[in-house]
Amino acid sequence: MIHEDVRRAATPPGSWYGDPELFRHMVEGVFVPAWHYVGPAAQVATPGDVLPAVLGPGTVDEPLLVTCDEAGEVRALSNVCTHRGMVMIEAPCRVRNLRCGYHGRRFGLDGRLKGAPGFEGAEDFPREQDNLQQARLGRFGPLLFASLGGGPTFEDWLAPVVARMGFYPLDAMQEAPERARDFEVAASFIAYLDNYLEGLHIPYIHPGLAAVLDGQDYRYETFPQGSLQIGLGGDSVFELPEGHPEHGHRVAAFYFHLFPNVLLNFYPWGLSLNMIEPRGPDRTVVRFRSFVARPELLEVGAGAELVQVEMEDEAAVEAVGRGIRARLYRGGRYAPAHEGLVHHFHQHLAAALG
Ligand code: FES
Ligand SMILES: [Fe+2]
Repeated sequence: MIHEDVRRAATPPGSWYGDPELFRHMVEGVFVPAWHYVGPAAQVATPGDVLPAVLGPGTVDEPLLVTCDEAGEVRALSNVCTHRGMVMIEAPCRVRNLRCGYHGRRFGLDGRLKGAPGFEGAEDFPREQDNLQQARLGRFGPLLFASLGGGPTFEDWLAPVVARMGFYPLDAMQEAPERARDFEVAASFIAYLDNYLEGLHIPYIHPGLAAVLDGQDYRYETFPQGSLQIGLGGDSVFELPEGHPEHGHRVAAFYFHLFPNVLLNFYPWGLSLNMIEPRGPDRTVVRFRSFVARPELLEVGAGAELVQVEMEDEAAVEAVGRGIRARLYRGGRYAPAHEGLVHHFHQHLAAALG
C-alpha cells in the first residue's frame, strides 16, 4: 500500500524545520483549526466543576474553561472576560458562577452573562458577544478535546481510532498522574513526528524495543486525518475479538497519529497519550499522559520502558535538529516500504500550508 509518489518524492526543504516565518504560517494553517487535548473528563464530571485549559500551548495559546453545568452538560468556554479581556480562572475549582476578579462580571457555567457591575445605563447592553464564546468540545473515553473550528469534525477526526479500538474498555481507563512526563526537545515538531512515523530506525536506535517487536511484520495504514502503525510480537498482546481487522495476530501496540500533533498509543495496559507541542520553530515540548485500564500489564511488552525509548528517539531527533538546516545537506528521499507515513504527514502539512 505504497503511494506511488513515495518512490519519487524528495523530502521537504530544511526551512520546514526551523524557519520562523513558515512556522507562523503553520500555526494559523495547521494548529488553529486543529483538535487539541484539553484535559481528563474525570476532572469535569460533577456539576460546578471548572477546569482552565490552554488550547494549543505554544501555538494557538487560546485560554479556555471546561465547565460542567447544573444539568451535567460539559462545555468548552472562553476563559477571557468579555469586558476588558482578562483571563478569569487560573486553577481548577467547583463553583456556581464564574466571576471575573478584575471588575466583578459574572457568568453562568453555560457562559451566559449574569451580572456586570458598573454597566447600568450602558446602551444596547448586554449583547450576544457579552456572553462567553464557546469552542467545540469532543469526548473520547476519558479524554476531552476542543477546537476553535475550521477543521474536521471531531467524529471524522477520530473515526479510525473509534473503529479500531471500539473493543477496548475505553471508559474503564483512569489517568495515572504519577506516570505523566513532559520532555523538551531541541528540534522542530516535524522532526519529532517524522521519527515517530517510521519504524526503519527501530533496530538501530532502540535495541530493547527491537527485541520485543517483530520487525519483519510492520503494518501501517493512512487515514484522511492521520495514520496507524501496528506493533506485533512480544509477551503482552491484545485479545482481539473476531471481526477485528487484526484478529488472530499478536498485536502489542496500536500507534495512532492524528493530524497534526496528537498521538494515541494503545497498549494492552491502556493508553499513552502524547501531545507534540511546538514552542517555536525548532523547539518542542512532548507531554505524555497515561490512562490505565489494566495496571497488572504495565511493565511488560512494547508498552514498558516508554521513557527509555523516548530518550533514544529524542537524541536522534535533536541531532536532526542540528543537521537538517546545514548548508551542505541537500535533502533526502523516502524509503518506499517504511516511510509512507512520513510522506503522508508531509503531504498533509503541505496541503494545510496551501
Ligand atoms: S475584565 Fe472582567 S470585569 Fe472587567
Ligand atoms: Fe523510535
